[in-house]
Amino acid sequence: MSATTPPKTFHVKSFGCQMNVYDGERMAELLAAQGMTAADARDDADLVVLNTCHIREKATEKVYSDIGRLRRDDGSSPLIAVAGCVAQAEGVEIMTRAPSVKVVVGPQSYHRLPEMVADAAAGRRATETDMPAEAKFAALPKRRKSGPSAFLTVQEGCDKFCTYCVVPYTRGAEISRPFTDLVEEAKLLVAGGAREITLLGQNVNAWTGDDDKGRPVGLDGLVRALAADPDLARIRYTTSHPNDMTDGLIAAHGEVEKLMPFLHLPVQSGSDRVLKAMNRSHTAESYLRVLERVRAVRPDIALSGDFIVGFPGETDAEFEDTLRLVDAVGYAQAFSFKYSARPGTPAATMDSHITADVMDDRLRRLQDALNRDQLAFNRASIGQRCTVLVERRGKLPGQWLGKSPWLQSVHFMGEAALGDLVTVDLVDAGPNSIAGVLAEKQAA
Ligand code: SAH
Ligand code: SF4
Ligand code: F3S
Repeated sequence: MSATTPPKTFHVKSFGCQMNVYDGERMAELLAAQGMTAADARDDADLVVLNTCHIREKATEKVYSDIGRLRRDDGSSPLIAVAGCVAQAEGVEIMTRAPSVKVVVGPQSYHRLPEMVADAAAGRRATETDMPAEAKFAALPKRRKSGPSAFLTVQEGCDKFCTYCVVPYTRGAEISRPFTDLVEEAKLLVAGGAREITLLGQNVNAWTGDDDKGRPVGLDGLVRALAADPDLARIRYTTSHPNDMTDGLIAAHGEVEKLMPFLHLPVQSGSDRVLKAMNRSHTAESYLRVLERVRAVRPDIALSGDFIVGFPGETDAEFEDTLRLVDAVGYAQAFSFKYSARPGTPAATMDSHITADVMDDRLRRLQDALNRDQLAFNRASIGQRCTVLVERRGKLPGQWLGKSPWLQSVHFMGEAALGDLVTVDLVDAGPNSIAGVLAEKQAA
């Protein structure tokens, strides 16, 4: 590889979960701190960072088609860096398969991206997939600007080893970032414009730490500490594991007003046999009991979940158990996926893989049920007056978009500004959004 001039402009494209998006923002901040300029379109960028996701086969394939598409008409291409979970899982393979990729950096080592880019520009391809994540956070620049709604990674990695999942391999073992670092990062985000912070972790409710008085606390302790900042209006967290819903966290849902009434709690299946084969270590019943307890302290809580259909060996009757669970819960929204065999996971070598037709059929039936419930939930909010955090301009002149406390997208017309918390009457509901009417502008 020959030397090129060091890149002056960059573009980061994120493909994955919210933590992947957070990582993308931090990589952009790192590159900007080196004096590089962000380019909106990747065609204008000297350096393109593909921040990849490995969770399902389709997500992984995207990176290779993207690498191909980055080639320009004259045969040249920008300096390509592959980051994220595919980099961690398939770093060596990417380097062999795609000679145009000059940097491969895993999710726990991206603080080294600038020096690796410099190496690449000097003609040395660079790979870094070290773990764990502690060194990374310490080496990142301080946060400065933020949109109204910001992400804050508090916990990373997973020790649960569900049999279908690559995350324990791509993100490594569970680590919790220290309490004081998080309180400081939250303060900087708020100073930079954030009114809402979503705490992120692969198992965010497994976060633990020592508070400023040295007392051991769980996620509820962190939530309570952040809620004390008068300039922060809303707190959310995702993604949680049913087994880490502690008494303290459940209680916080009833007590901390800034903790929004929304809980994303993946269940994956309604069949205890399948849950066991998935190594989920909870049952359908124990999951439902957790939801009942949260609902008891916060009756208006909006519930969300993740589902996998067609796990190896899943029978029709077991799939029906999932539909029954969905009916019992009444989700406000949910994500559902066809099982995707991932290399190196125990489920990939299990017997009785489900055919594509059956998977398609099950996914369709599940999504019909989930869509039905989502619309019902949205319709039930008509007539409510609530706060909306204004996050974006809408397509129409004078239109604004924001989120309700229950994480519904709300659009309304009128006078507002980004980051405002406005009071809105919800007047009409579709499957994916709610129409609101501005009631009054609140003193923020
Ligand atoms: N830590 C979270 C989310 C992990 S990934 C949790 O435990 O719930 C997000 C979702 O992707 C999972 O909840 C699961 O529904 C889905 N998923 C993970 N691996 C998958 C696979 N191999 N095939 C299909 N869906 C998968
Ligand atoms: Fe994956 Fe399971 Fe860990 Fe979630 S809890 S990240 S699904 S192994
Ligand atoms: Fe994907 Fe990695 Fe997130 S595999 S879902 S980007 S943790």
